[in-house]
Amino acid sequence: MSLALSTPAPTAPPEATDGVWLADIETDEAYAPFDEIRYLSDRGNLLEVRYAELPTFADFHGSGVWRYAAALPFAEGVSLPEGATPLHAAPRLEASVGVRSLRIKHEGMNPTGSFKDRGMTVGVRVAQRLGVERLAVASTGNTSAALAAYGARAGMETLVLLPAGKVAAGKVAQAALHGARILEVDGNFDDCLDLVKLLGEEGIVYLLNSVNPFRLEGQKTIGLEILEQAQAQYGRYPDRIVLPVGNAGNTSALYKAFRELVQSGALAVEEVPRLTGVQAAGAAPLAEAVANGWSTIQRWDHVETRATAIRIGNPVNAPKAIPGIRETGGTATRVTDAEITSAQRALAEEGIGVEPASAASVAGLRKLVEAGEVGTDEDVVCLTTGHLLKDPDAAFAASADPEPVPNDLSAIVDHLGV
Ligand code: F0G
Repeated sequence: MSLALSTPAPTAPPEATDGVWLADIETDEAYAPFDEIRYLSDRGNLLEVRYAELPTFADFHGSGVWRYAAALPFAEGVSLPEGATPLHAAPRLEASVGVRSLRIKHEGMNPTGSFKDRGMTVGVRVAQRLGVERLAVASTGNTSAALAAYGARAGMETLVLLPAGKVAAGKVAQAALHGARILEVDGNFDDCLDLVKLLGEEGIVYLLNSVNPFRLEGQKTIGLEILEQAQAQYGRYPDRIVLPVGNAGNTSALYKAFRELVQSGALAVEEVPRLTGVQAAGAAPLAEAVANGWSTIQRWDHVETRATAIRIGNPVNAPKAIPGIRETGGTATRVTDAEITSAQRALAEEGIGVEPASAASVAGLRKLVEAGEVGTDEDVVCLTTGHLLKDPDAAFAASADPEPVPNDLSAIVDHLGV
């Protein structure tokens, strides 16, 4: 396994503000972070946030996302607060999957019920710094809920573009109640993202999808928390982190978090967990690229899965995520909707309630262990990205129906048959 993480030299260019700048991920060309609104480099490549000073574990204080301020562009943000999610043991699931240890990092326990809050607390802070007024995202649902809540908290206008009929009920309800203006587009998520990017380029909105490099800074804290919690719970770092992949934002963010710790000397390269991405079989361009050894993805125009959160055919962060998977010695796989539902039930049996996309991580791990691609001697963390209540329809569909009974004790006792 090659474990040479590409680590750019932390020398602040003249464009930096307080030791922070944006860089083209291909050419390292630097841009001032807050002087103008920019989502891509002049060459059209993705940008990432760079820092003159990179943190070690001793720099982290407090709890939640802002514990990791030393790894972020600001000391504080618009907070509800977010992060500090549990790392659950799941002993029966661990035994049935058959790895040395399995922990579940349940991001559904964030304020709006998904990991998106970690990105929004930083992204909305950046929007305040830039002085913009109208925030927007394209979304399969969770990003819209997080944007609506954090935008409301900051007193800003929010606009969300959703693929009509393909967003779970709980997420639309959140976006609506928090006051977002909701546009239902006759197209899929990728079409929505193309449109909202154009609105951003026109200067009509400030774009807070994960193509915005600041969002991913907040999401790095998932990786930082996992390392600290694993160390506290079982005295080691996990060998592998398995995560559901849609737009590949988390894969990119966790890779960046670990790369920065390696660069600061806080983490040895051999200690970096192998990043392992899981997609739904009906929306698997990244798994396809990794399986074929491609360095870029080919867009899927037709995508379908019950895990609507990851119903994505053109993951924008693939140029950041594919090196992350390769350089950490990880892999990617795809799972069927039936495998996702079965993993959702298995998590529920451990008391952990997740939405379908989240269960893809556990379904993928099971598959990779069965195929011998993940060792039975590994310590694994699976990320569960969103709460069960996000998608009540999927939860009902995966469960037994309620049983109607008369309003009568003896009839109920008879009915129970116990
Ligand atoms: N899991 C859930 C529950 C999600 O909502 C998403 C993405 C992902 C996984 C995929 O994460 O993009 O970092 O690979 N949801 C976005 C949204 C697209 O609009 O809510 P990723």
